[in-house]
Amino acid sequence: MTLQNDLILRTLRGEKTERKPVWMMRQAGRILPEYRAVREQLKDFIELVKTPERAAEVTIQPVDILKVDAAIIFSDILVIPEAMGLPYEMQEKRGPWFPQTIHNQADINKLHIADAEADLGYVLQAIRVTKKELHNRVPLIGFAGAPWTIFAYMVEGSGSKTFSKAKAMLYREPQLAHNLLDKITQSTIQYLKGQIAAGADLVQIFDSWAGILSPDTYQEFSLRYIAQICEAITEVPVIVFAKGAFFARREMGKLPCAAIGLDWTMDIRETREMIGNQKVMQGNLDPCLLYAPDEVLVAETQKMLETFGDKHIVNLGHGVYPDVDFRKVQLFIETVKNWKF
Ligand code: CP3
Repeated sequence: MTLQNDLILRTLRGEKTERKPVWMMRQAGRILPEYRAVREQLKDFIELVKTPERAAEVTIQPVDILKVDAAIIFSDILVIPEAMGLPYEMQEKRGPWFPQTIHNQADINKLHIADAEADLGYVLQAIRVTKKELHNRVPLIGFAGAPWTIFAYMVEGSGSKTFSKAKAMLYREPQLAHNLLDKITQSTIQYLKGQIAAGADLVQIFDSWAGILSPDTYQEFSLRYIAQICEAITEVPVIVFAKGAFFARREMGKLPCAAIGLDWTMDIRETREMIGNQKVMQGNLDPCLLYAPDEVLVAETQKMLETFGDKHIVNLGHGVYPDVDFRKVQLFIETVKNWKF
């Protein structure tokens, strides 16, 4: 049962480690030719997500090929709206799309609180298969979207630069927004607990659209729901990654979670001062440095490692872009592994 490589878990407990752990958001995906090969054999992305054996296979690919210190279960944050009764499509090149969206209380009433086993059993099964096939080599990360980010897709119906339909609801009908956010939060807690029971060793909450809210609206419509999730998840460490939430770092420092993710716009030392010394920080190399010449990539990675010091899980500041050459990713990971405290 004991993990061969538990660097990330020891770091999350605040222990001193021989080197820093490293993984990458979106590590399982199109950067790997092996992923694209599996994906081509299936009808589409959603079919891959719903086929536990294949989802497990692509989850493990980055452990074998990139030698990262953790696997993250191959799925998507948008499985939650579907589990609540609002199905999504993943359109080639255009991204997620919802045929129906949420407009009023009647729409919210039609949604149900997701039951992890009944509605998301395919993800739980993918976790069980992955845990078995990983043979305890590295920990497995479970994840969910933050309620605000899920809300944004359910109201807007697709990706957007402004998410103005979703934000309009916050200002026009705040109570309606809270009713939906509450249902999403309850579903997410059930779902994360299901992932943990199935074998997830830690979980990450992705608030990808944090950066489009004001400090006050972020507090009211996002952070308080993230806090509810953190309070409910006591079984394993929780990492909260809120992209663009530079204005909320002090408040995030008070969340009952083990670690905070930084995007590349957040100054590392300033963030440490803001969140205090207790929490682990994760991040935050600009994903575009993976397009830079090798010597630039190595120098910038080393600079980041120095600046963070200890209590650091190495990652990018957001997901890896699909057109990056995976050899650059390998160089990034090697650089982290060769660096000494
Ligand atoms: O490796 C991993 O990180 C695990 C898998 C994972 C995916 N999506 C697979 C995926 C994770 C953790 C996510 C999270 C996710 N999904 C987020 C939060 C992280 C972030 O990037 O901010 C968001 C906002 C989504 C919603 C989503 N899913 C979008 C906007 C898109 C389209 C954009 C794109 O890259 O094409 C997806 C599709 C998606 N999710 C893909 C993958 C591998 C690409 C689809 C494909 O392979 O055909």
